[in-house]
Amino acid sequence: MTKVPDEWVEELRQRVDIVDVVSEYVPLRRAGRSFVGLCPFHNEKSPSFSVSPDRQLFHCFGCGAGGTVIRFVMDIEGLTFPEAVEKLAHRVDLQLPAGFHRQGETPPQDSRRQQMLDAHQLAAKYYNYILMNTAAGVQALTYLEGRGISRQTIMDFELGAAPDAPDALVRFLRKRGYSPSLIVESGLGVAMGAKVVDRFRNRVMVPIRDAEGRVISFGGRALTADAKPKYLNSPETELFHKSEVLFHFHAARKNVRKSRTAVLFEGYMDVISAWQAGVRHAVATMGTALTEEHARRLKRYADVLVIAYDGDAAGRKATKRALEIAANYGLTVRVALFPDEMDPDEFVRERGAAAFQRQVHNLAVTELEFLLEDLRSEAALDSMAGRTDFLRRALALLAERASPIEQDAELRRLSSEFQVSPEALRQELAMVAKRRPKRNRQSRMAAPEEVHRASVPVQEKDVSASQRILQALLVEPRAYEWLLSRGVDELATVEQTALLARLYHFRSVHQDGSPSAFLDSLEDPLLIRLASSLLMEDPPECSEAVIDDCLRIFKLHRAERKLREAMKELVQAQVDGCDNVTALKHTVEELQETCAALRQQLAGSMVTG
Ligand code: GTP
Ligand code: MN
Repeated sequence: MTKVPDEWVEELRQRVDIVDVVSEYVPLRRAGRSFVGLCPFHNEKSPSFSVSPDRQLFHCFGCGAGGTVIRFVMDIEGLTFPEAVEKLAHRVDLQLPAGFHRQGETPPQDSRRQQMLDAHQLAAKYYNYILMNTAAGVQALTYLEGRGISRQTIMDFELGAAPDAPDALVRFLRKRGYSPSLIVESGLGVAMGAKVVDRFRNRVMVPIRDAEGRVISFGGRALTADAKPKYLNSPETELFHKSEVLFHFHAARKNVRKSRTAVLFEGYMDVISAWQAGVRHAVATMGTALTEEHARRLKRYADVLVIAYDGDAAGRKATKRALEIAANYGLTVRVALFPDEMDPDEFVRERGAAAFQRQVHNLAVTELEFLLEDLRSEAALDSMAGRTDFLRRALALLAERASPIEQDAELRRLSSEFQVSPEALRQELAMVAKRRPKRNRQSRMAAPEEVHRASVPVQEKDVSASQRILQALLVEPRAYEWLLSRGVDELATVEQTALLARLYHFRSVHQDGSPSAFLDSLEDPLLIRLASSLLMEDPPECSEAVIDDCLRIFKLHRAERKLREAMKELVQAQVDGCDNVTALKHTVEELQETCAALRQQLAGSMVTG
């Protein structure tokens, strides 16, 4: 993507009226200076979605969605930034800046990376054309029809066919100016001696896209059972890192976000069938296990992850691994089980869309149920030793990750099944629990930017003082200098500190950038949410004096904490008759004075501690 000039985007933001645009999607009614309506990004019955004509921003006080008109169009239409600005520019008859183009529409000219993206985009169009319009695509089209894939789905995914020819794509790309080395580097071609030939031949072609929807690689499915390998995927390239990519994430994202739930399949053909059956919040990894990077991405939009792997032994094993990773990132895991070793795609073909939906939603079991069931499937329940062993493992599992209610319910079940008294089980559980402390699941819950800090209890007033500081940075360009000169680099909460860092960065590059430009530069939904909520409030007065007051509030609370600790130490020292009592008394007095002075300074201010 060519970089769209900032000034042009600013001009666009000023010409478009957010209320007009939003009204086309959401009925709005006036409420004071704002407009309100039902949020299109989550399900609600009473309106918490607000649009401010003065600030040209929207914000939902329910789900936190928010931003400028560009973000609104991106989110509601599932568009990338350049696509959204192009759409809005047409609306207000603003001419696109020189050099503006979307991928693949103009000859490659800029970076090598961009050329690789353009080549992929073209290749997808080429393969799709072969599939839909030529004799060379007939076998692939018949194959897809045999799998029950509709024309609409083919177009939704831009599926294609690689012809059974040595270098059809390579010749196509060469004619359009792509060099042999670029074709090899992008993974679309393979060097054979001095020649470059097509990597993919005689396969159904599935474009793999990044989170923005740009084609970055391909998966190719063999057309016959004897052709090996069954799936041939692009190699790792500068564009394609398979440990990061989630197939179809770009399209699933808005549905995931709305339902706060994502479905994870093993294969991309599963995602395609599921999409066709109406399950539109599903993704798949690219033939690899779920990685931490995948989980981190999902957690930004989802609270619940339904793992829907194949029903065979390998699938169950992979489920266990994925479940650990997902749970470590704070995702609540459900497992959808498909009977008789069927894989999801077979299930949907045999039982239909409604049964499939039910399997994925209503019938998915909890993490605990799945793990217990898995233990049971491996246990030798027909021997005494096997039963005891199973019970021990089951209790360990309960100790480690069941809530008290789940523990209680499960203990009753086990007690009646195995004819052991509930008391005995409870005692045993208590013993196991001592040995195996409960895991802290939220520990990895990816704080934005992975910022971690010591867990000092957060003071409400520090949080609001931090808000004032962030608001100042957002609306007052001079605040950047003020804060830098005072060395402020940490605020009350992790999110606030992360937003501070992003604002510093933004201000260092765009001294007079508008708050809207900043909002549009953010990608992390947590930070967008925080920033847009700050901007929806009435702009605070901001001056150096206000900032100093905010900093005094932090200082006061820090001093108060220290004072409490020093007092405790002093009492203990007096009890123990230590000889540092005098020194401690001195410390306490000093801290008391500091606190008193800070309180007095704050007493007259408008920001009170
Ligand atoms: P179908 O037989 O077409 O229904 O495939 P499937 O959707 O059941 O996929 P399967 O469970 O066989 O594999 C799941 C995923 O693993 C695929 O989407 C691929 O990403 C990957 N995979 C499977 N087989 C191969 C292979 O032979 N080579 C490579 N590189 N990846 C494979
Ligand atoms: Mn399959």
